[in-house]
Amino acid sequence: MTTAKKRFSLTERDPERSLEFEFIRATEHAALNCVHWIGRGDKEGADAAACDAINGTFDHIDMRGEVVIGEGQKDEAPGIFLGDRLGTWAPGSPKFNIALDPIDGTTNISKGLPNSISVMAAVIAPEQGPAMLNIPTFYSEKLAYGPQVADAMRRDKSLAFNLDTPVEEIVEKTARILGKNVHQVVAVVLDRPRHERIIKGIRKMGAALRLISDGDVTAAIAPSLPDSSVDLYLGIGGSPEGVLTAAALRALGGDQQLRMWVRDDDERARIASDPATKNLKKIFHADDLVMGSSAIFCATGITSSWLLPGVKLVGRKATTHSILMRARSRTVRYIQAVHDLDHKTIYLRSKTRETLI
Ligand code: FBP
Repeated sequence: MTTAKKRFSLTERDPERSLEFEFIRATEHAALNCVHWIGRGDKEGADAAACDAINGTFDHIDMRGEVVIGEGQKDEAPGIFLGDRLGTWAPGSPKFNIALDPIDGTTNISKGLPNSISVMAAVIAPEQGPAMLNIPTFYSEKLAYGPQVADAMRRDKSLAFNLDTPVEEIVEKTARILGKNVHQVVAVVLDRPRHERIIKGIRKMGAALRLISDGDVTAAIAPSLPDSSVDLYLGIGGSPEGVLTAAALRALGGDQQLRMWVRDDDERARIASDPATKNLKKIFHADDLVMGSSAIFCATGITSSWLLPGVKLVGRKATTHSILMRARSRTVRYIQAVHDLDHKTIYLRSKTRETLI
């Protein structure tokens, strides 16, 4: 007796592949919905608009999305938080672990400065435990570099460096690996007093320093982009941003070292009972932060950055630029979309209806 073979739909066979464009639609909507907040001095307003669009976009998608890395905790801003759900949660629909930052660079938006994106990462939820590491500290030390540096360090231990290596040596080894003079090495650092030592070290070496005011996801991805001209990202920044970065680097082939950074005694007491604190001294790499065989990363530019141009408004047309990558295939898609604002609507959760922008 022959049994008929069950035919699986694309969503059943490869949910990442069938749903990846819904993620890009969500970050596009977030970018479009907060574009009117650029320069208005209201970062909470911008963040709320981005969250509203992301929640609303997924309210119609048959998916069980669990937020395992959320935002908003750091400064009590509005946000989509750990444990929140995206999608309809229709029984049997694909289950994803999701990391997101509806806006990385809220201060930049509020001041009308460059370097803000809406960003998400998603991994098919494993049978057990989350696929992305939830780091309990607000901040982490980070060190990100591109594929050539990551490969060279794997091949030749004498070229390796880590978060404990003096910055001068990191710069010198990076120059050697990339076949550059030290003064041609470009390093990006968040402009914060806590980075005084790193900044001094880079300047002492004569390397090119690019200080940024906010938005370290794009800065940490930049060394893995062939045309960014950035070689290194160093410093202490938000932990969720570090996990989002890791998802992108899994697809681009670069790497990021990350170690939790406890900012004060209050935080030390707050996280004391978290089992993750046994790893306070551990240096994580991109594949420790985003585990499993695959991950989706997507982002849309709000204001322009190394990664993406910002939303361009000309008359009643808005152009968005997005990036979509999958770690399994290592395909990197750049998606430019032109939206006709007389017709384009976004489903906003706050209004429970399609809304013109
Ligand atoms: P948000 O826009 O999500 O608030 O984050 C901006 C940001 O610059 C991150 O990119 C970075 O990781 C973090 O804040 C740095 O924190 P701080 O501003 O407290 O130094």
